[in-house]
Amino acid sequence: MLNGKRILLIVGGGIAAYKVLDLIRRIGRAGGHVTPVLTRAGSEFVTPLSLSALAGEKVYTDLWDLTDEAEMGHIQLSRVADLVVVAPATADLMAKMAQGHADDLASTLLLATDTPVMIAPAMNVRMWEHAATQRNLVTLKADGIAVVGPDVGDMACGEHGPGRMAEPEAILDSITARLSHGPMKGKHILITSGPTHEPIDPVRYIANRSSGAQGTAIARAAVAAGARVTFVTGPADVAPPEGCTVVRVETATQMRDAALAALPADVAIFAAAVADWRVTSASDRKMKKQDGALPSLELAENPDILAAVAGRTMDRPPLVVGFAAETDDVVENARAKRIRKGCDWIVANDVSPVTGIMGGSENAVLLITAEGEETWERMGKDAVAVRLIERIATALA
Ligand code: C5P
Repeated sequence: MLNGKRILLIVGGGIAAYKVLDLIRRIGRAGGHVTPVLTRAGSEFVTPLSLSALAGEKVYTDLWDLTDEAEMGHIQLSRVADLVVVAPATADLMAKMAQGHADDLASTLLLATDTPVMIAPAMNVRMWEHAATQRNLVTLKADGIAVVGPDVGDMACGEHGPGRMAEPEAILDSITARLSHGPMKGKHILITSGPTHEPIDPVRYIANRSSGAQGTAIARAAVAAGARVTFVTGPADVAPPEGCTVVRVETATQMRDAALAALPADVAIFAAAVADWRVTSASDRKMKKQDGALPSLELAENPDILAAVAGRTMDRPPLVVGFAAETDDVVENARAKRIRKGCDWIVANDVSPVTGIMGGSENAVLLITAEGEETWERMGKDAVAVRLIERIATALA
């Protein structure tokens, strides 16, 4: 969460400028405030009006605008922010920054600022790979400038390779991590959340009642504590929090692949309610009723994602936390589960319908570690999340 942090956002001239509108929206939703600065080339791709409408702020464009100088000089403008973000950072802007040019508002602000700077480069693949750009990149990194992206992919110019601007979500992720001073700063946390859907045919699936609320609350608390969070979520009812890298999956197999791809991590928390079984061979056509004859579904067991990650040798996260949602013998079952799955901690809860926990807003948990058990009083899922993250921060310290 950005909690009122101020971002001076310099928008350069590239087709990726359109993604900046989404970035501004996301920064706002995460509690941050954007002051946009638009270069002349940037204004060929995105209008000052769209930027100011989303940022709720005046857009600064011209170094020689005397009204602005009277209101706020460029020196002051460059220093009121907590972070200066350049997105898209074109080859030309990077060159200017590396050389220390100051011939327009954006480059002047970048030279005058004493605030940390982050760039999200975006350009044609040949321009990115050119020796001059790579030289400038080395210079900028040596100057302490943080770089997010570029991504590899198809480009607007029809070529393929590195040069696409990082997605707004990833840029926000880096901004949040850069500005955070929380106890989890510098830690990478993998969190699985939500239910999985296991297809029966193209329109039907096996699912469960998990809303994803607890996993989402944990991700939010981890982001607030300064962690870099990879949030692997099944089709949940609640929207994933801002500031983390979200990987959306449907099935248990996809969730397992996404979780393994996110390693290494300092902590892995498995809050997902993964379906235990999938239909062995889901039909690729909608199954039809057949004169009262009942279809039979052959089931196969899904991979146990928690056990798979806990059992890794080379890249096992130092702390692996599982959940145990039980309806009977909560303590015994959860203790046994901790050993069986090879995880370090189990967060156990009673999900009998009378408790109203599954799909509800509260949780009453028992934390089981190798040292013993702690009973936490019934509290909101957000409070459980904050307490769990605090416990983890203490354990990692
Ligand atoms: O075996 P059970 O489903 O009760 O285990 C619950 C814990 O294991 C949770 O942390 C859940 O996210 C995780 N799990 C998993 N993959 C499965 C089944 C459960 O990661 N296939």
